[in-house]
Amino acid sequence: MYKHAGAGWNIRPFETADAGPCLSIFRDSLKDMPWRMRNRGQYMILRRALGPRNAWVAEEPDAGIVGFLSLQPPQDYVDHLFVDRDWRFCGVARGLLEVARQQATGPLSLDVDAENLGARRAYEAMGWQVVASASATGKARQMRLVSP
Ligand SMILES: CC(C)(COP(=O)(O)OP(=O)(O)OC[C@H]1O[C@@H](n2cnc3c(N)ncnc32)[C@H](O)[C@@H]1OP(=O)(O)O)[C@@H](O)C(=O)NCCC(=O)NCCS
Repeated sequence: MYKHAGAGWNIRPFETADAGPCLSIFRDSLKDMPWRMRNRGQYMILRRALGPRNAWVAEEPDAGIVGFLSLQPPQDYVDHLFVDRDWRFCGVARGLLEVARQQATGPLSLDVDAENLGARRAYEAMGWQVVASASATGKARQMRLVSP
């Protein structure tokens, strides 16, 4: 459904067998987010979010799953976007967001942790706008962003 000609990965809908690799990427990414470590419910939330109609994975023939995104319809809210650390800066997040945008009825939105400077810079590079500051979202230390 989406192929990156140069990097060799493609994006397809999530399948049940992808849950393990997605969970591994999620768990590894959280190592860089000590502020989220105590949030045990986030694993259950991730499992519930991963389904064939509202989640997509980026897959590379040798490496396997290198990233995933889940989308909450009908709000077109991106509740997970995680890329394997070895595959960052290769356009995987941009590709996943492009696929999600094609499925959505309007601009995408998401909440990013204020401490997550890398993700904030990535969204800024992709033209996302801050529409609510950390305090205004009602969620501690998160900012609401919308896609171009
Ligand atoms: C944030 C994240 C999803 C970005 O994924 P990615 O596949 O590396 O992003 P892309 O390669 O598609 O990059 C898209 C743009 O963002 C830029 N970018 C990506 N990460 C960046 C960073 N840490 N700092 C600055 N710019 C960054 C890229 O350079 C690119 O811009 P360009 O096209 O102008 O060169 C990835 O770093 C990640 O999984 N982080 C951990 C989990 C996380 O924080 N998820 C977001 C939760 S809201």
